[in-house]
This record gives sequence, structure tokens and C-alpha cells, in this order.
Amino acid sequence: MSAAQITAVELDGPTDLAGFRAAVRALAAAGIEPHAARFVVSKCEPATLFDDAATLPREALASAPPLALPAGFAVLCETVLMHDDALRFSRLYELAHALNKRRTSWGDTLAPQRIVLEHMAQAVRRELHKTKAFVRFRPVQGDQAVTHVAWFEPSHHIVRAVAPFFVRRFAGMRWALLTPRGSAHWSGTTLTFGPPAERADAPTADAGEALWLAYYRSIFNPARLKLAMMKREMPVRFWSNLPEASSIGHLAAAAGERTDRMVRDGAALRLRRRSVACDGQARGAAPASEPANVDSLHAVAAQARQCERCEFAAHATQMVWGEGPRGAALMLVGEQPGDREDLEGRPFVGSAGALLRESIAALGWPQTQLYLTNAVKHFKFEWRGKRRMHKTAAQREALACADWLEAEIAQVRPRAIVALGATAARSLLGRSVPINEHAGQWLLRSDDGLPVLIVHHPAALLRAPPATQAALRATWAQQLAGAGRFLRSE
Ligand code: URA
Repeated sequence: MSAAQITAVELDGPTDLAGFRAAVRALAAAGIEPHAARFVVSKCEPATLFDDAATLPREALASAPPLALPAGFAVLCETVLMHDDALRFSRLYELAHALNKRRTSWGDTLAPQRIVLEHMAQAVRRELHKTKAFVRFRPVQGDQAVTHVAWFEPSHHIVRAVAPFFVRRFAGMRWALLTPRGSAHWSGTTLTFGPPAERADAPTADAGEALWLAYYRSIFNPARLKLAMMKREMPVRFWSNLPEASSIGHLAAAAGERTDRMVRDGAALRLRRRSVACDGQARGAAPASEPANVDSLHAVAAQARQCERCEFAAHATQMVWGEGPRGAALMLVGEQPGDREDLEGRPFVGSAGALLRESIAALGWPQTQLYLTNAVKHFKFEWRGKRRMHKTAAQREALACADWLEAEIAQVRPRAIVALGATAARSLLGRSVPINEHAGQWLLRSDDGLPVLIVHHPAALLRAPPATQAALRATWAQQLAGAGRFLRSE
């Protein structure tokens, strides 16, 4: 076929959905058969490639009448346009043409061109999923603020589609996602897209990452290693950009021996600690590990933001990390962020938080000595009408988050901890602690000896019948005040 019989359409970018839809309408209106249509992505392909081809005029694109194609086809287009296959536009036009001419129906899911396109859509969806799971941001200190930068090499054109996910997930931080297919930048308020980047534009490993690696190695459970399944879930092509992947070979090689040792020691899978009752002479012992720098706390937070161990991480607006300085004398641990915390990305900013913060102010505790956080880092809720109602995290869900709380404790190194309610107490002490029975008591963590004061959660006070509230609040405030002995004199 000579080039003269070819009609070329120029698209504005590799995923130009609006341009492609207009092109399909115009090509169909002009009666162009699929084999005679070519799609050129401007700036991506040499202009001379179809020099002899007739180019469809812009006016034809703008004025073509709509085509009655099934709604499902539009959805398929949106996904398939992200595929890397250079023939994706032609393949889609072929199906559009066949549907328009009634040579196939949308119900015919086994039509050969449909099968190919559905496979392509599936590959794109999988890529989107993997990108959400395997992008790793590294903090970069700028003049004014920290930006978290990630380098990623997607197989398909998914940057624009996946960016809103990271906006929701990391709404409160500045970040940049750099890829060879384009980049996305979030300023904290605005999302913009930029040109392709190179690996050298992204930061290399930093001290925070070394901490993450040490942490990854410590939580790696050799008894659970299933290498084939791991490779299926985390395909090897992603490994070059995953800091922890460099440890996998070594950890896998040692897994058998480590598992044997764990079984021998009778310690297999005993991940939780036990608490012991304390006579009130809290020791305030600090964990033995070396102090880490401030950035390490941020680096662990950045990793926690990507955590998808519990199901509701996907529904929450963002992960809510703790607030306060490293070295704070007292850590106060709540249950989980509520609706306000989820939206603002800060702990204890809703009504229960207001009660807690008021009480802290009344006690005269300096903010500089306090670290406020939660046992569970994502908001778990169910919709009731238009309202998101808090749901208590199940034990296994709180357990999925326990490593992050432990990482915070290891970084902040408080002298003592206040457990606000049952979820916090269970996460901190590794066993269920009936609050009515233990409120006002100090318990010691068995592994690091940190004293934990048990008190009711402030939300429990807000829920109490009005007649009993004043008395309950007074008792609670008195119990809370007991933790003041761990504050440093300033
Ligand atoms: N309740 C909590 O337990 N934590 C918060 O951050 C807010 C309310």
C-alpha cells in the first residue's frame, strides 16, 4: 500500500484520550478503514515518518459527529492507551470500527481484537498496582523544605494515572515521582507533570535508607520465605529500584539455617512481647540501640506511608504518623487517627484530640517533651450516609501496624509511654489489658523495660453519660498527671 492511501492523525501525547476519541470519530466519519489509519504521537515520532500520508485536518477532528459506542469501550480505551504497545491506537480503532459497523458486538468478549485489548488493559492495571506498592521515596533536603523523590521505571505510561493515588496517600508532603516516561510533582497543594527524567536526577541511598534496610532485615521472617511467590508478587524487574531487594539474596540464602535455629530455640513466630506488672517504680530505661538521627524518623515515616499491610490503608486518605521531637521524654499512644486526623495527616486534632491537648496544656507539660502517636496508623471507618464512622481496628490489623509503632519508639526513645485505651495498651504490651481494671497503673514492657501508664482513651470520656463525665475526667486527668514525673526539668 502506498503512503498516499494512509491517513495520519496526530495525538498530543502517549495517553491523549480526548485526542484519540476525536480521531476515532473523524476517521469513522471520513470512512477510513483501520488498515489505512495511522496515529502519530507528536514529539515522539519523526515528523517525516508519514510525510506522504494525508493528515486529518484539525477541523475534521473538532466537528466529527459522535459515534454510538458502548460505555465499556470508553473505559477500555482509557486503560489501553497507557499500554506501551505502539499499535495500541490502531488496535483500539480496529475494534471501534468493527463495533460501529456491527461486525462485532460488545457482548462478544472472545472477538480476537477484544481479547488482545483486554490483555493489554490487564497488564496496565497490574502495572498501576505494582507502582503503588513498589515506589520508594527518599527524602531530599532542599533550601526550604524536604521533598521526597522516587525513581521508578514503569513498563507502561502510567505516571498520570497513578499520581492522584500518591497525592491522596502523601497529601501532606512534597514529593516528586521521576520516571523515563515523564514525572509528577506534588507541592503539597498542586499536582504538575513534567518531562521524562533520568535515574541520575533521583537521589541515591541515604542514611535513612540504611536504617530502613536494617529494619527490613530485622522484620524479615525466614520461616515465611516463599521465593517463587515473592517473585510473582514483586517481579524481579522492580528490584533494582527497591532498597530492600539488595538484601533479599542474602536473607534468602540464610533463611533455612535461621528457621532451624528459630525452631530449635522454641521462639518461632513469637513476635509479641509479654508485659509484667510493675510496683510503680518505673525505671525509664532507654532501649539499648544506638540513637539514630532525626532524618531516620522521617525515613521510617516515609516507608510507613507506603505500607499496605492492612486492608483499610487503601481507603484512608493518608497514613498518620506521630508528632513530636526525637528524644521526647513522654510518648502518648492513641488508638488510630479519626476522620479529622485522616484528612489533616496529624494525630489528635479531632474532638478527642482537643480534650487530650487541653488536658496536657492544663498540666503544663511542654510540647517539646511530648511525642503523640497512634497504635494504628490508618483511619478505619465505614460509611454511614455521607459520614465516615470510626471502626475499631481488629487485633490482626493493629498487629500489622505494631512494627511501625516499635520503629517510632526505637527512634524517639521516650523515658515512658502513656497508653490511651485498650488498642494502644495491647499494641505496646503484646497482650490484652482490661482498661477498667488497670487504669492508672504502670506496666513494664518485658523486652525494653519501658514503663507504660494505662489510662482510658479520651474518646471514652466524651462518650460517657453527661452525669458521670466531670468525675471521670477528674480521675483521668489525675491518672495522666502521674506520667509527669518522667518529664525533664527544664
Ligand atoms: N483518637 C486517637 O486514638 N488518635 C487520634 O489521633 C485521634 C483520635
